[in-house]
Amino acid sequence: MPDTLTKLTYQTFQQGKNYFGLAHKILSTRLMNLVSPTEIQSRPIAPDTLLKIQQRLNQLLETDWQDAEQGIYPESLLFDNPWDEFFLYYPAVWLDLPQIWQRAKQKQHQDFPPDINTEGYPNYYVRNFHHQTGGYFSDFSAKLYDLQVEILFGGTADPMRRRILAPLKQGLQAFANVPPHQVRILDVACGTGRTLKLIRAALPEASLFGTDLSPAYLRKANQLLSQNPGELPQLLQANAEELPYLDNYFHATTCVFLFHELPGPVRQKVIDQCFRVTQPGGVFVICDSIQVSDSPDMIPVMESFHETFHEPFYKHYMTDNLVERLEKAGFQNVTTQTHFMSKVFVAHKPA
Ligand SMILES: C[S@@+](CC[C@H](N)C(=O)[O-])C[C@H]1O[C@@H](n2cnc3c(N)ncnc32)[C@H](O)[C@@H]1O
Repeated sequence: MPDTLTKLTYQTFQQGKNYFGLAHKILSTRLMNLVSPTEIQSRPIAPDTLLKIQQRLNQLLETDWQDAEQGIYPESLLFDNPWDEFFLYYPAVWLDLPQIWQRAKQKQHQDFPPDINTEGYPNYYVRNFHHQTGGYFSDFSAKLYDLQVEILFGGTADPMRRRILAPLKQGLQAFANVPPHQVRILDVACGTGRTLKLIRAALPEASLFGTDLSPAYLRKANQLLSQNPGELPQLLQANAEELPYLDNYFHATTCVFLFHELPGPVRQKVIDQCFRVTQPGGVFVICDSIQVSDSPDMIPVMESFHETFHEPFYKHYMTDNLVERLEKAGFQNVTTQTHFMSKVFVAHKPA
């Protein structure tokens, strides 16, 4: 297909997902306010903020396209959507909404079915983030997660995750003498494995590793990654506060959408661990939410997010100085970029 046509198809698909996500959010919020009004009402977003959101989205799609064109990852990744799962699980998203509304209304943030064992998990983790049924503990939650994130971000979750790939590949240039299959990359809090899938496409020969606290999410990740060509990443259940790996083991470490869900002191612990397991000369790439310091114009969106969804550590995250935390751990040359609703931190462990 000629490039302009492929680009147009990509942008049309993405904008379509954006409008679908928007329509779902408007419809479900209206229905909730009708059926089960909560004290927390999502505030309407001002037209000029909406315009800025659209501009940021367009810029993200442009960067995503450019990076693919430059060969940082294959163009096919731009069209990689699990449509079958989305269609399969979309009715379940609706059927689950009454429980979610009930939880939001009654401020039940630790509501788990009796068959779920939460023993041994950190307190901050034992909760229904985003009011989601089962928190991070059930297979049901793991199945719906990717679709829920797609709806929340209007189909841009993967384009935002892909922003770690250029700095990751650039950081790995420090190890150009290492045979590609001996390059080790760890994705911390890998969840359902979407980021590992993207890394695999960009670095087909690298040895990939993933950790997460949730066995259910790791099972889902294993299922997703087994369908992928190439060596299966090694997945391990672990708390990111105590990574079960040797010092200086990985040439690069990544972490996507974790830090906003951690209390401040835990964020520091996880960063310290990522520093410990990264090789001297290696790179640590984080992708998480935008913050007040770099996106003051998006404060209404950030505030509405932490109020509407159960995200108890997000408010602190919004103004937390992660660059300072990274430097405190020992990282140097920390740079940041923002892409739509995400912020990428690139930190280097001194050689
Ligand atoms: C918002 S999800 C992000 C998942 C994935 N990185 C992505 O891009 O979709 C947060 C993930 O962090 C995991 N998590 C939260 N606290 C953790 C901890 N202390 N150690 C390891 N994983 C943790 C959760 O189980 C969940 O899979």
